[in-house]
Amino acid sequence: MSEFIVRLHGDKSITHRAFIFAALASGESIIRNVGSGEDLASTRQVLRQMGVSIEALSNDTWRVQGLGGIHNFHRSQETLDCGNSGTTMRLLAGLFSGLKHRVTLDGDASLRRRPMRRLARVLEPFGRTVDCAEHGSAPIQVGGDLSQKTDELSNHQNIRILTASGSAQLKSAALLAALSDHRPVQIIEDAQSRDHSERMLGALWSTSLIKSELTLEIPASKPSFTAFDFFSPGDLSSASFWVAVAVLADSKYSSIKLEEVNLNPSRMGLIKLAQQMGVQINIQHKAEVLGEPIGSILIEALDLNQSLKPIQPSAQEVLDALDELPLLALLACFADGRTEIRHAQELRVKESDRLEAMGQALASLGAQIETLTDGWVINGNPNLVFQATDELNSYGDHRIAMCLLIAQLKCIKGTKLKINDLECIAVSYPEFPQQLVAYSR
Ligand code: S3P
Repeated sequence: MSEFIVRLHGDKSITHRAFIFAALASGESIIRNVGSGEDLASTRQVLRQMGVSIEALSNDTWRVQGLGGIHNFHRSQETLDCGNSGTTMRLLAGLFSGLKHRVTLDGDASLRRRPMRRLARVLEPFGRTVDCAEHGSAPIQVGGDLSQKTDELSNHQNIRILTASGSAQLKSAALLAALSDHRPVQIIEDAQSRDHSERMLGALWSTSLIKSELTLEIPASKPSFTAFDFFSPGDLSSASFWVAVAVLADSKYSSIKLEEVNLNPSRMGLIKLAQQMGVQINIQHKAEVLGEPIGSILIEALDLNQSLKPIQPSAQEVLDALDELPLLALLACFADGRTEIRHAQELRVKESDRLEAMGQALASLGAQIETLTDGWVINGNPNLVFQATDELNSYGDHRIAMCLLIAQLKCIKGTKLKINDLECIAVSYPEFPQQLVAYSR
């Protein structure tokens, strides 16, 4: 029995932010361990269209020539193409709302279905407008409001933004918009979302922006910051797929070790819930990089007679595991009893309607699952074996496609599941299918 070691590409959320802050910094930044996923390519491409020079030094290391502030970004008449990436669109809309001219951001068919009007709500207190297409979606336009509105707004002492819905993308959009405003800004959440933007900017400014669990404060004077050399810590969302693999696969390996992984508490949701289900996971903290904790995670395979315990996660636990909830649903199918996952209505407006997508797929594989408006109820069975079925629909959603690849591990020997559009995995974790084959061999 031995250990399977996985080296993960840098965290996608953190790496998006590293490119954005490197573009804003003065001087030349180096970003290492960058994943080859398409979402990050979208962020690089949009920044390039705005005049930022970004070049590859190797397949996972990039050099960014920072422009030293938003005022040095170029005027772009071209539409800025965010591809499939909601993070690219929402974060950069916040940043570009501070441009002197208006720009248009657009995306693929999936991104065009996602809600963007909520951006208008968080940028409005800055006096900035967001024009959306019909139904409040992309293409959207931002920028060009500053010159008309600054005088009008300068009497106001400070800005207070309530992000609502626990969205890190909205919180980060507000934080990036604050960089081009001369007033102190307070951002208040109703539930704590991932905090990478405030950690990274705080580290670059050598000050903490985090005032309490739910409140951020950005000072009136915004110091410029210098370029940095950054190793992006391994992606916790990608790490989470390995928790499911360790638990569900029949393998010669007794454990899976993930090295140099991000250990940000706001992203550890699936790890903590898996521990509640009885999975043995050991975490070792090693260092800190630009405000982010980094270390290793060791996941033990289940003992022969052990079964997973069902769970009832709280609203905050659900938010902490947001992108990993499809995986949690998969695990819950094999728990010994009833798992109820609620407060997850946001899953309906991700890259696909993830509640429907997983509900449909797991039911057709033979799981006892009911899809609710805001979650699932799953009656787990430790002895469940997935049955052959018609082609499963990933809805072109990378996280659904990877969950379905893992579901294959619980099928009757010799059954090969048909899953459509597996190529979409390239959005976040292109190496996963090969790594999974290496593990299962
Ligand atoms: C992200 C925030 C989350 C998450 C997304 C990445 C980020 O989205 O689901 O995959 O990098 O800020 P919301 O802010 O829409 O919840």
